[in-house]
Amino acid sequence: MPDQDKVYQDVYLKGRVVRHGTRSSEERYQAVAQVLQRYRRPFTVLDIGANQGYFSFRIAHEFDAICVMIEKQAALLENCRKNESNRVVLLQHAISAGELMRLSHTEHFDVVLALNVIHHFRLRWRTAAHAILDLGDAAIIESPPNNDTGSRGKWIRRPINRFLESMPHKVIAETERRRDRPIMSKMRLYEREGIRERSSVPVSRAAHGISLDTFDLLGGVYPERNVLLDTWLVQGFHGEVTACEQQALKWIAVDEIENYRFPPADLPILDLIRRNARA
Ligand SMILES: C[S@@+](CC[C@H](N)C(=O)[O-])C[C@H]1O[C@@H](n2cnc3c(N)ncnc32)[C@H](O)[C@@H]1O
Repeated sequence: MPDQDKVYQDVYLKGRVVRHGTRSSEERYQAVAQVLQRYRRPFTVLDIGANQGYFSFRIAHEFDAICVMIEKQAALLENCRKNESNRVVLLQHAISAGELMRLSHTEHFDVVLALNVIHHFRLRWRTAAHAILDLGDAAIIESPPNNDTGSRGKWIRRPINRFLESMPHKVIAETERRRDRPIMSKMRLYEREGIRERSSVPVSRAAHGISLDTFDLLGGVYPERNVLLDTWLVQGFHGEVTACEQQALKWIAVDEIENYRFPPADLPILDLIRRNARA
């Protein structure tokens, strides 16, 4: 197969692999899944440099999770459309280290995946690495090993690995970097404070995993705008609720939801309301 036709990750569509990538995606996924299996509640994932979206689509398919992908390559949108998952978000953007840092001030995720991406930030890798560790309760990081001569950013590989080794972590997998060369790559888990009882992401945002502001600022392209609904859980207000566009309004209890008909786009939101009421 010509090099330009090769893909890094497996391509995952609705529960199955339809094309194989140059890296073993299955083996790496199993290591990530072992960490995710500890969550006994819905959780959020930020997947930086999501590539074909293999990890996010599969996580959203197999877990009660919302996955926010950041990827600069436009082709990923097509995979989103084909997967039709309402639990993934795509920010189509070449994010800078500074933007990652600012993102860490406004958004927080249960788990951050930064797999083979820190070296793409070149001289700003340290800022990117600190932002990644700040963005989640847990971060799973993989970075090309020192002896991988094939990957980019050769001059920063050693300092990145020194940094990653110096922070408290656990190696959760060691997998082959390339099928043709016996170079091994470590996947490391960094945890701040273990699994929190509840996500620090407000429930109001959980439908999309992030705020609409972040979606707008960082090139949100999926869910596509015609189905994007900004949802808030309002815990207190003053005055009377009024419909500004003549919608029918009625207060009902959560267990009465079944008695009413809603448009299909509301169904994931109703799911969230039910889950939140049970929690
Ligand atoms: C080596 S691949 C790793 C893919 C995936 N994380 C994995 O390990 O399977 C790096 C990916 O990050 C993307 N990428 C690199 N720099 C990026 C940036 N600044 N913003 C968004 N995506 C980026 C690339 O387009 C590519 O898909």
